[in-house]
Amino acid sequence: MQLGIDDLAFATAGRYLDLADLAPVHGVEPAKYTVGLGQDRMSVCAPDEDVVTLAAAAALPLVEALADDERAAIRTVLLATESGIDQSKSAGVYVHALLGLSPAARVVELKQACYSGTSALQMALALVARNPEQKVLVICSDVARYDIGSAGEPTQGCGAVAMLVTANPRLVAIEPVSGLHTSDVMDFWRPNYRTTAVVDGRLSLRAYTDALTGAWEDFRAQGGAEFGDIDAFVYHQPFTKMAVKAHAHLTRLAGAPRDAAVMDAQIADTLRYNREIGNSYTASMYIGLVSLLDHATEDLGGSRIGFFSYGSGAVGELFTGVVQPGYRAHLRTAAHRRLLDERDRVSHAEYLRIVAPVNPVDGGEHDVERLTRGPFRLAAITGHQRLYEPTTAAATAVA
Ligand code: COA
Repeated sequence: MQLGIDDLAFATAGRYLDLADLAPVHGVEPAKYTVGLGQDRMSVCAPDEDVVTLAAAAALPLVEALADDERAAIRTVLLATESGIDQSKSAGVYVHALLGLSPAARVVELKQACYSGTSALQMALALVARNPEQKVLVICSDVARYDIGSAGEPTQGCGAVAMLVTANPRLVAIEPVSGLHTSDVMDFWRPNYRTTAVVDGRLSLRAYTDALTGAWEDFRAQGGAEFGDIDAFVYHQPFTKMAVKAHAHLTRLAGAPRDAAVMDAQIADTLRYNREIGNSYTASMYIGLVSLLDHATEDLGGSRIGFFSYGSGAVGELFTGVVQPGYRAHLRTAAHRRLLDERDRVSHAEYLRIVAPVNPVDGGEHDVERLTRGPFRLAAITGHQRLYEPTTAAATAVA
């Protein structure tokens, strides 16, 4: 029996900052960002968008596509994020309610920087292996924020990916072998009292590469596929140039020929969406997968994909999946393209106005400015409670 990803969609904010508008503020050439980091734009959350609204928006089309009995088969929701909105309550519980899922479900939030979505996927596979009738909804949702004016600022972004994990998946069957690597590194973290991450950028790039080395060596020791038997590679993308660097590193490590055209073809389609979205932490690698499936001109059915998931701190996991024949009939390519094309470009001044999260601490009544065009919004923070509401007929209908 094959286990894996049966349905897949992403969501992002309705606004973006073009990095050409940030470069002069930092006193650099736009090419530093577009070429040096491989980023053109970054999605910027409005005050009424957060990891809950993004997660629910990503999962909405998956839930809408299910019949009532299939929705009831979702007995687990795993929400991976490092931009949590509460220290105790899972963001997944809000999402579960917004999506009108069955109360006969377990819901939990997972955290380990950008890695935890992969942990959620592996846990989902284990649950489905135990009961193949069950479906698990895995959602990765994050808002990447660094200090204004810092080197990390151009690598912000936000987005969410929803994956329905089932037996006999229609998109990608995940293979059983994983290569794992954990080491205690202070390359990137966010203490409870901060709304932006603390990052040692240079160290994080070294820690990423070290984790890739460790995970690949473990993957091969565990009997994982040879490099030459993997057709495409999806890497975690804090900025897309990082995937280019990682792929060069892995190619060298595996002793494979360093043919620039071949190496480019193995990753190019995985980078397209993230160039426009920016970093979305846990969602980034899986948006890379959506990008590959949506953009590949040849039919990838039967192709093996290598995945490298990295989360600072640091945990890395390398695993593979096989694209299923007929997968193209189940993609949401047009909706994803529309989502990106319909975003509004904001000025640098407007970006500065909306980029900080709404964060009142007095327990009073705070309505949140209505800006999003997404299907769900954060409407108010009242008595320390976050109040969400659907904004479209489709979102209202599902609840
Ligand atoms: N044209 C083309 N490329 C240019 C350029 C120009 N005018 N100016 C600079 N560059 C290149 C640099 O050569 C460099 O490329 P290289 O690394 O391949 O040599 C790249 O642009 C970045 O320049 P650099 O000076 O290293 O950038 P920086 O010190 O301002 O910061 C990061 C870069 C990535 C360290 C920073 O954005 C950061 O900390 N981001 C967060 C990292 C992160 O998310 N880590 C956690 C998860 S892994």
